[in-house]
Amino acid sequence: MIDTNKIVLTGIKPTGIPHFGNYIGALKSIIDLSKTNKTFMFIADLHALNSIHNPEVIREHTYQAAALMIAMGADLNNTVLFRQSDIAEIYQLNTLLMNLTPKGLMNRAHSYKAMVDKNNASDLDPDAGINMGLYTYPILMAADILLYNSDIVPVGADQKQHVEFARDIAGYFNHTYKPLFKLPEPLIRQDAGLVPGLDGRKMSKSYDNTISLLAPEAELKKKIMRIITDSKTPDEAKNPDESTIFLLYKHFATEPEITEFAEMFRRGGMGYGTAKQILFDKVNSVLAEPRKKYENLMANTAEIDNILANGANYARQIASKKIEEIKHAMLG
Ligand code: TRP
Repeated sequence: MIDTNKIVLTGIKPTGIPHFGNYIGALKSIIDLSKTNKTFMFIADLHALNSIHNPEVIREHTYQAAALMIAMGADLNNTVLFRQSDIAEIYQLNTLLMNLTPKGLMNRAHSYKAMVDKNNASDLDPDAGINMGLYTYPILMAADILLYNSDIVPVGADQKQHVEFARDIAGYFNHTYKPLFKLPEPLIRQDAGLVPGLDGRKMSKSYDNTISLLAPEAELKKKIMRIITDSKTPDEAKNPDESTIFLLYKHFATEPEITEFAEMFRRGGMGYGTAKQILFDKVNSVLAEPRKKYENLMANTAEIDNILANGANYARQIASKKIEEIKHAMLG
């Protein structure tokens, strides 16, 4: 259990509607935490800028991400939902932290290294296509985390290193100047890596095996029916933990439902067609309401603007105080 006094923060990169894997890996845990803890949740549009150079696309994706978090149940009583770029202090802190961050730390970032490896493998210049936004991505992310005094940062496993960098950078600052920054902790969902896609491999856009979180009912059904299974007959007993159907079901059902479904696998007598239908019914019943809410919000973006503006006003109050302290410590 997380101490309810801890401040939770996470950024959501606006890159389109997430799939089940994204949702289960990171978004679900933050929505759950927003019910018990003060939570800063922002749409990381500045982080999207290193790859998306079309303002309409960023705007549309920002709306989608905000609408999604609200529709999936983020508790707006505890949640400060805002757009990263609306807070001027974030650009300031980013500039300040640049001067404390060793270049070598950025060289070690997995996301940057992966790009370099890809370039090398294609016989390109190692830095081809890499802009400074991408290279310094972890510094901006550290600024996000440190500006709002965050304690806990729920993220998918791929972002763990970035939160560790934020800790490192906070440490350099505290050591060099004065202890103004808390050391944030990443919160990685245990089962984050275990969301299988339609073909049984990890759910990922690059494998083309995803299910969109807000897919219309017909598409959802089609996708679920396409899940690849082994060739066991309906009568045969099955191991639930080896079945994509069960592994997806687990994330949407209650404990007793999960136990019962597992039992049905083990007992034998349930064919995969039936199991898929049960999975579909469950997922569809959980997602029907959010889907409607999402569509309503997207049809009324003024309401989203309003929520984001309120969030920004609140976030700005914290940020402006913090940045004054930091500037004073660094610049006198
Ligand atoms: N980098 C994160 C991602 O790609 C998004 C993000 C930006 C973030 N700033 C953050 C996450 C601060 C946690 C905390 O998913």
